[in-house]
Amino acid sequence: MQRMIAVDKLARPEDHILVPAERSRKARVEQGLTPNGAMPYEEDFLKARLHGICAGEFQAMEAAGRTLFDFPDSPWEFQLDMARQVWDESRHAEIYMKLLDYTGSFYGEFPESEVLWSCTQAEDPAARVAGINRGLEGLACDVFEQLIRLAQNMGDEVIERSVDYVLADEITHVRMGSKWMRKLTEGDPERFKKAQDFQNNIDELFSFGGTRTTVERAGKIKQHVNGKDIEIDQGITIARESRLLAGFTEEEIDRLVKGFGKSQAY
Ligand SMILES: [Fe+2]
Ligand SMILES: [Fe+2]
Repeated sequence: MQRMIAVDKLARPEDHILVPAERSRKARVEQGLTPNGAMPYEEDFLKARLHGICAGEFQAMEAAGRTLFDFPDSPWEFQLDMARQVWDESRHAEIYMKLLDYTGSFYGEFPESEVLWSCTQAEDPAARVAGINRGLEGLACDVFEQLIRLAQNMGDEVIERSVDYVLADEITHVRMGSKWMRKLTEGDPERFKKAQDFQNNIDELFSFGGTRTTVERAGKIKQHVNGKDIEIDQGITIARESRLLAGFTEEEIDRLVKGFGKSQAY
């Protein structure tokens, strides 16, 4: 079997659309929509946000499985952690499919971005866990914490508790990424730096030009979500508490808040 498979090899139903983020942005603009979906001011914000996460959970499951397959000579404990992650992510994918159903949507209603999968195109398992577990799953902590607050504002305990349950797992995945990024590169600073650069690119991409901020400083907008008028954050805030639990340092979090997009691995 081939290593580092391309995104179009992922098994999806025929009516699913899986495209580079740039292509879906272009298609949205051509249809007179805003370039990025799942924006707080859009009517289908919640569905689109849950959909983006659901697709991320599927790709996280597939990516951990591929890392397990692609690096058969990696330490046994690393392989066991990756196998455990496949199991966790499969439960997350099921939970988000149910939440999509709960909000009147379904997996496949929106295009799926290939952004997580692009992190599997790295020859080094240390870079993969840096990009996926620390970069993207760090971002997941931000998105999930925000979603929990949104659900609390809506008075929706189903979404609140479901996402809280998944967030607890993601925190362990980030920690796992930090541990293996360090262990796999032990005694090889150059390899460590390469993995860190790989993560920096992800952090930079998702700093959205340095526009992200803290929960306290986030601008608010009014939105009608699932029959309720609520106030929500304008952008994706940075979840200091969850990131600290996940093992990011204060310094790393401050850098994200300042929009540098560069983080020192812990
Ligand atoms: Fe997950
Ligand atoms: Fe995860």
